[in-house]
Amino acid sequence: MTEIQLRNIDKHFGPVHVIRDINLTVKDQEFVVLLGPSGCGKTTTLRAIAGLEDIDSGEILIDGKAVQDVHASERDVAFVFQNYALYPHLTVYENMAFPLRAVRQSRAEVDRMVQSVAASLGISGLLNRRPSALSGGDMQRVAIGRSLVRRPKAILLDEPIGSLDAKLRESMRVELKRLHIENGSTSIYVTHDQVEAMSLADRIVVMHEGLLQQVGSPDEVYRYPVNMFVAQFVGSPIMNLADVDISESASGVGVNLGGTSFAFPPALSGKLKEAGAQPGKLKLGVRPEGVLVSRDAQDGYVEVTVGIIEPLGSHDIVDLKVGDAVLRARTKSAFVPGPGATVWARIDPAQAHFFDTTTGSSLGIRL
Ligand SMILES: Nc1ncnc2c1ncn2[C@@H]1O[C@H](COP(=O)(O)OP(=O)(O)O)[C@@H](O)[C@H]1O
Ligand SMILES: [Mg+2]
Repeated sequence: MTEIQLRNIDKHFGPVHVIRDINLTVKDQEFVVLLGPSGCGKTTTLRAIAGLEDIDSGEILIDGKAVQDVHASERDVAFVFQNYALYPHLTVYENMAFPLRAVRQSRAEVDRMVQSVAASLGISGLLNRRPSALSGGDMQRVAIGRSLVRRPKAILLDEPIGSLDAKLRESMRVELKRLHIENGSTSIYVTHDQVEAMSLADRIVVMHEGLLQQVGSPDEVYRYPVNMFVAQFVGSPIMNLADVDISESASGVGVNLGGTSFAFPPALSGKLKEAGAQPGKLKLGVRPEGVLVSRDAQDGYVEVTVGIIEPLGSHDIVDLKVGDAVLRARTKSAFVPGPGATVWARIDPAQAHFFDTTTGSSLGIRL
């Protein structure tokens, strides 16, 4: 049973305010991913939890016990670094045994743990090798194995597969998920890769410039981003954002962008007023899958011109020119005739987001 709590954590490096009043509770057996761009403070936060970095103020609690003044070696959390950090002169077996020998476990117990963890990682055949004779993926398996043998209270992983090639990253992602399901260790995982975050996390913590932006399940963060930063950081290709104004007529509500009016349900105008939307300070956000495309004129669709098409095999990403604006849409492969063609488009109101351009915050409107 391990719960980790961060309360009002603050940290500066010289004049740079790296962590700003972070509050977070990681529940027992939970897999939490800290996601954000390079330099946003992910590593520093993780190192602070491990005790590898002091904090200026705040409290770090492991199972309810404040540990900010407890030495790293006494916190009983394992840390997996991006750059493996294996001992080059020791075999895989000895690398994995090292943390157990350090706490004077019996020879039999060391052997039992190393063999069992090696088997679960699929590296039993590599125990006599030295790190220099391993592939990148195997090195990282050993590094993870070394952190697991001690059965730590929690495991902290800092971009553990970031330096592997794309194909290997994909299979390691699945392995990490399986390992977590088997071991159920409370885990905090750092990455700048939103796909990794979406696929691994029970909850994602989106960070930007030392501040927590949003904490939620992958589905919540994807479907209900709280601000424009989260909206555009999570999801690929990124969410369309466009300045819009609203017009009301007898026939309904129009969301106008690029000199074109997209039809929305009448309920939108009341919801915008309720949310305090300011004229001239409104952005529409819609993911490419929320831009619906038709090859024929249809009620509620507006005429647009096809720009660049990115064929991705399973689907296409198509630029649609809407006056002087561009909306990217996701379509079936080879659905639109080609660049320059005329097609018709609609914005799915259920997938539309509205943001206040002054604060960047979502107005929380759901249609
Ligand atoms: N030891 C250090 N001394 C000074 N500045 C640091 C140190 N470590 C990190 N920083 C700065 O703190 C900020 C956050 O860094 P870091 O936590 O490594 O971000 P991330 O892991 O999200 O890329 C960056 O601006 C970085 O340059
Ligand atoms: Mg980092």
